[in-house]
Amino acid sequence: MSDTVETVKVTIDGQELTVPKGTTILDAAHEAGIHIPTICYHRATTPEGICRMCVVEIEGWRQLQPACKAQCSDGMTIHTRSERVDRARKTILELLASTVDLSEAPEIQAMISEYGADVNRFADGERRQRPFLDDNPFYVRDYDKCVLCWRCIQVCAEDAQFIFALTLSGRGFESRVTTFYDEPMPCTTCVFCGQCVGICPTNALKPKVEWAVEQNMPPEKIREVTSAQALPPRKRTDPTRGGCRWS
Ligand code: SF4
Ligand code: FES
Repeated sequence: MSDTVETVKVTIDGQELTVPKGTTILDAAHEAGIHIPTICYHRATTPEGICRMCVVEIEGWRQLQPACKAQCSDGMTIHTRSERVDRARKTILELLASTVDLSEAPEIQAMISEYGADVNRFADGERRQRPFLDDNPFYVRDYDKCVLCWRCIQVCAEDAQFIFALTLSGRGFESRVTTFYDEPMPCTTCVFCGQCVGICPTNALKPKVEWAVEQNMPPEKIREVTSAQALPPRKRTDPTRGGCRWS
């Protein structure tokens, strides 16, 4: 059996590269020192191609392709910044800004500046408004800031923790991250590892301590609300659901 790695040749923004077969366009561009913006992609999670911020133009291909998911194939000529690409990225940012609170998403804010996105272009768009969730001592959830990148769901599931406390619910505009049966977090399988908080790009998930400081709580109050003692006892009221309910 041969150990030779099969390779393909591509051209990215005029640079010729030889990469192992199966390399994504994003990784190949990175190797060439070319930056492609991403939102839903994270190197620790499985690329799902959700946000489309990373789209690139491939000569001879009708549609723009997500660089985080599309693989290089032999002879491809790829453009990471073309008029079509920039227009698509700009529109994605404008649509996001029309519905989501991006005030605590510095990386996305930087993209808005870079692509000259007009955050008021769809000013009449309906904004996502979800109840603020403060149901445990470790983190709060403000889904008005959620861009539905899936990263939290992925790290909670097969990409890291195998806990499966989070899921996606609803369709279209009503899509949202939640727990199974919308249970409060202490009633789920969550072990409060914090992986979801660490990987969230928009601060929709925030450590409770940080949030409490922002609320100007006095130190003794912060200690109280962030203590594990603040966790209610797990109380199973409906065994068929496998969770618990607040009494
Ligand atoms: S809560 Fe954060 S990590 Fe989870 S989907 Fe929303 S933006 Fe992404
Ligand atoms: S970063 Fe590639 S689709 Fe989101």
